Amino acid sequence: MPPKNGAWSILDVRVINRVALTNESEVAICLVLTPANLKDEAAVSVKWMMPVKIQTKIIGFMGYNYSIMDNELAELKAAGLYRSLKTIEKTDGRFVWINGQRLINFCSNNYLGLANHPKVIEAAKRACEEFGAGAGASRLVSGNLILHEKLEAKLAAFKGREAALVFPTGFMANLGIISSLTDENDTIIIDRLNHASIVDACRLSKAKLQVYPHKDMAALEKILKRSDKFKQRLIVTDSVFSMDGDLAHLPRIVELAKQYNAITMIDEAHATGVLGVKGMGLEEHYNLPGKVDIIMGTLSKALGSLGGFVAGSQTLIDYLKNKARSFIYTTALPPSACAAAIAALEIIENEPKLIQQLRDNINAFTLSLWEREDGSRQRVRAEAPTSPIIPIILGTAEKTMEISQKLFERGIFLSGIRPPTVPEGESRLRLTLTSLHTKEDIKCLASSLRALIPA
Ligand SMILES: Cc1ncc(COP(=O)(O)O)c(C=O)c1O
Repeated sequence: MPPKNGAWSILDVRVINRVALTNESEVAICLVLTPANLKDEAAVSVKWMMPVKIQTKIIGFMGYNYSIMDNELAELKAAGLYRSLKTIEKTDGRFVWINGQRLINFCSNNYLGLANHPKVIEAAKRACEEFGAGAGASRLVSGNLILHEKLEAKLAAFKGREAALVFPTGFMANLGIISSLTDENDTIIIDRLNHASIVDACRLSKAKLQVYPHKDMAALEKILKRSDKFKQRLIVTDSVFSMDGDLAHLPRIVELAKQYNAITMIDEAHATGVLGVKGMGLEEHYNLPGKVDIIMGTLSKALGSLGGFVAGSQTLIDYLKNKARSFIYTTALPPSACAAAIAALEIIENEPKLIQQLRDNINAFTLSLWEREDGSRQRVRAEAPTSPIIPIILGTAEKTMEISQKLFERGIFLSGIRPPTVPEGESRLRLTLTSLHTKEDIKCLASSLRALIPA
């Protein structure tokens, strides 16, 4: 304790525990005190650390001026665009529990329920026991496990390619593939609605980025026509567009690529395990096997695990192992994630009925939306969906969040999607169906949507 008499100065106030980042927060602080005549901390023989709990107005933290962030956050709140996390206390794939309430989950990418499949969970557990919780190093140092190679062989076979390479996430796969294959002599041509990871990969690359309106094949051709000065023309598209659920027009893309000598790359994040009878993806859906040069995908959606991958020629894979920075300079995928994805691929191979179940649910939902309470039919969609992603576009962010909250109150978990994830004025509920949903779940959703959103 400092002496009771004598003048003391506060040398420093250190926040040691911040309870919440609100303006009026309870914090624990340490006061570093020194006698008033000794201002130099080095000369202080006694420092007094006093943890206290006070009500204080936080104006900065460790010297960082947060006012710019505070202002931006306030603007987001005012525009109805502030994002916050919902805490899931428990899940079995079909349901989630939030604040003790059980809700049917209609916004997960766990399309085949494999994240919760007993064989997948068992495989992940076993891998943890055999190899540990983490890989311990990057693949090129000492993190290359037999599980990675087994998974890559399986992915290559699944996609009908010579070889494959896994990355820690799909996002990192896109960053690594696109940025290492292109330079300032090249152009990358992308759909306007491609995933953020493709857009960021293009930003990392020195190639010229050219964007065509969503699925506008005439615009793509126009760009290709005027791009013959570039050494490489790389066309990249989502297979299933992540916020709209529609499919890229692969037959025309492949035709144009051939005509204009361009390279093709598809992002199969939402197509793997979903499109085609065997779940192989967009090529299988359109019966165009082997027509695309580079196939990228993720293990985190229908495969129920975590990680990204690329499948293609052996040369492409060898090149990426040597050049892709998001593969080289990062720790290898954890053993449990590899084993879970291997088990998921085996289930897809052996139980194609899972994919059929998903398709049945997509059809059931389409039908129930068409059906009125009195049994007559009401058309609410222009076309039947082919993928499990069904956008319900509501326009404003406020309206979207209001309906999302009302669904929540009815026991349905369906998050709102707002700008910048989707364009201004196109806020939506991004509904996803999975093979785990029952016909009752789907009926409950459809009748709630009918009640809350007038046709
Ligand atoms: C089209 C698309 N590509 C890539 C990714 C990134 O995949 P991951 O979640 O494995 O990082 C996503 C994920 O949302 C996606 O929707």
